[in-house]
Amino acid sequence: MEQQFWHDRWETNDLGFHQDEFHPLLVKHWGNLNVASGGGVFVPLCGKSRDMAWLAEQGHDVLGVELSEIAVRSFFDEQRLSAARSEAGPFTSYKSDHIQIFCGDFFLLTTELMTGLTGDISAVFDRASLIAMPADMRIKYVNKLKDLLLPGVQILLINLHYEEGRINPPPYRVHDDEVNALYEPWCDVELLEESETVVKGHVCAEFAYRLQVK
Ligand SMILES: C[S@@+](CC[C@H](N)C(=O)[O-])C[C@H]1O[C@@H](n2cnc3c(N)ncnc32)[C@H](O)[C@@H]1O
Repeated sequence: MEQQFWHDRWETNDLGFHQDEFHPLLVKHWGNLNVASGGGVFVPLCGKSRDMAWLAEQGHDVLGVELSEIAVRSFFDEQRLSAARSEAGPFTSYKSDHIQIFCGDFFLLTTELMTGLTGDISAVFDRASLIAMPADMRIKYVNKLKDLLLPGVQILLINLHYEEGRINPPPYRVHDDEVNALYEPWCDVELLEESETVVKGHVCAEFAYRLQVK
């Protein structure tokens, strides 16, 4: 998926993926991860997701990364948070008390850039991030996450299933087999729940996985 595709989506306010409510599977299952209050939570491809505010309310320091400056500025405006702006390598960092967003390309993140920013990253929340990318990028994305995360880090991954051809991606269809192939070599994988959601007017199965880096 080209970066321009996402810039265009933000410029034209074509944001069908954005949810005004906190994600129900996040609210329901976050407790199952037993992430210590104060533990840093990484939200890759974060958009302007309100879930970051929910995570901060649970006592976490949140680090997001997002390509679009429109998304980042909208997030802080909508949450009525003021954010200090600074340069951090190839990123522009926006930081409020408990939420920091790196504006730039996820694939340029390094452990050096992440170290000491939100304390240690204890957990990751991935909603509409893995499934925002086509198959070749998903491999790159998961390899990057693997490079960035330490053993013991937990990932709450939200995945979708829908009938082939029903929805014009993104979101992409990612089978359970692919989730297992991508994560099992370096994570313990546990399916927490299957529920339903509506995407682009179609009812889809939605899955919550708990992954833990080995
Ligand atoms: C489907 S949206 C999901 C946003 C968010 N996770 C949510 O639940 O609302 C995908 C987001 O990833 C961002 N994005 C796409 N490619 C990216 C990249 N290489 N680095 C950082 N952000 C990226 C897009 O701008 C978009 O906001």
